[in-house]
Amino acid sequence: MQDPIAVIDFGSQYTQLIVRRIREFGYFSKLYQPGDLRETGSPPAVILSGGPRSTLEPGAPDIDFEYLRSLGVPVLGVCYGMQLLNLKFGGQVAPGHTREYGPAALLVRAEDGGVLFEGIRDHSQIWMSHSDTCRMADAAEILGENLDGIPVALRWEDNFYGIQFHPEVSHTDEGRKILRNFLKLARDPQEFRIESFKDHLIERVRAEAAGRKVVCGVSGGVDSSVLAALLHEAGVDTRYLFVDNGLLRKDEAAEVEAQFKTVGIEIETVDASARFLEVLAGIDDPEEKRRRIGRLFVDVFFDAVGDDVELLAQGTLYPDVIESATSGSIASTIKTHHNRVDRIMELKAEGRVIEPLDELFKDEVRDLGRALGLPEKVVARHPFPGPGLAVRCPGEVTVEKLEIIREADAVFIGLLRDRNLYDRVWQAYAALIPTKTVGVKGDERCYEYALSLRAVTSEDAMTAEWAQLPYEFLAEVSNRILNEVKGVNRVLYDISTKPPASIEWE
Ligand code: XMP
Repeated sequence: MQDPIAVIDFGSQYTQLIVRRIREFGYFSKLYQPGDLRETGSPPAVILSGGPRSTLEPGAPDIDFEYLRSLGVPVLGVCYGMQLLNLKFGGQVAPGHTREYGPAALLVRAEDGGVLFEGIRDHSQIWMSHSDTCRMADAAEILGENLDGIPVALRWEDNFYGIQFHPEVSHTDEGRKILRNFLKLARDPQEFRIESFKDHLIERVRAEAAGRKVVCGVSGGVDSSVLAALLHEAGVDTRYLFVDNGLLRKDEAAEVEAQFKTVGIEIETVDASARFLEVLAGIDDPEEKRRRIGRLFVDVFFDAVGDDVELLAQGTLYPDVIESATSGSIASTIKTHHNRVDRIMELKAEGRVIEPLDELFKDEVRDLGRALGLPEKVVARHPFPGPGLAVRCPGEVTVEKLEIIREADAVFIGLLRDRNLYDRVWQAYAALIPTKTVGVKGDERCYEYALSLRAVTSEDAMTAEWAQLPYEFLAEVSNRILNEVKGVNRVLYDISTKPPASIEWE
């Protein structure tokens, strides 16, 4: 496989977005630390990201410029990356007295726009986030300025471009086009096809497993389902384990088993619901609930497979790898010291953990699942939190409350599917409000729970909008719940954005 387009990470909050954009254009791209430049192989192009530091600070991140140059491929420096290139080409960087943050206008200067600005309108909005400014050396050619005549885009020699603004954020009107223009210069980049990536992953999994017996936890969620399908397709000897923690949705355990069966995978289910309910009894602190669920999950898992697993497969995705070496894994969901959790870290250190999805973003994992023949119902499933319905049940978790949440969720999700609204929302569920309020049923007053329905749209769960579901639909859901779910006399619709609200209720 061709080496990816390399994005060098100088620490900007937007760096991951550059990689995502390039992948959206159909090219493979990966993030590298500045010190790992030599690991990029023969990339078709290199992008130097922005970063929070100043190139003037002692110890500011640097790059092996001679090596970069020797690659002979186009390089685009963004913000910090541009200032670094400017220094390398003999210019200077002056400390700015104010931070320039927010919108500015782009005036294209060079005759030919330097390819970079081909088809870009004058005065289109660009997004700035920096304080230092460049004093260029003579070698620099100005491709663009802001309205004050300050250069915001430079070129050095034929192959080196720098832009002061962030093309990867949506506030830069024509940012996508500018990145695409830059990629036109890339050296023979090959299109990224999930089909050929699937073959690469199958080879990778076979090589990493090397005949060892693999254990893979499955939850029915997209990531672990795709991982299981990949291991299965690769013909790796794998034991698939599903822990029923008693916090699942209605009929979920049976559905997950049946779904795996349709693709030829037999899973083992461990029913540990009684153990989970026991450790949750009397606990209403949300963090403590999470901790207990996380720890017990790991205990149940290792009780079932034994501490001495030969190889553990985890569905860690690329954003988790970028954000931290361990987040997204079982271990990361439990942040406290715990022997069994440490066991996972030990296994990792011993090279006994494989994470074959660690180069992919979520939407790519879905495509991989499709390429592996998983049904749409599995690959397009809404995310579901590891601690399950416990995070939709503020206060103490009881069997009675779980039953209410489960039944209401089944009505809500069922109707979303029936009315073709399921795929229009990122996530939807019912949370129980742990207070009983008055209502009238028959001729009697009753004190029962209220439920909050939540449906959100989102791109990555970092931010979310409440979904503007049709009133008639909400009315139908509410009527059905009030008629069919015992113990509820009130249904509310949550119209909070994230932030400040989170997606889950906790
Ligand atoms: P919040 O509630 O933080 O949720 O806005 C963001 C996304 O993460 C999911 N979520 C979790 N997933 N373990 C998980 O595996 C958890 O403890 C957890 N808490 C929240 C949530 O469903 C949403 O998609």
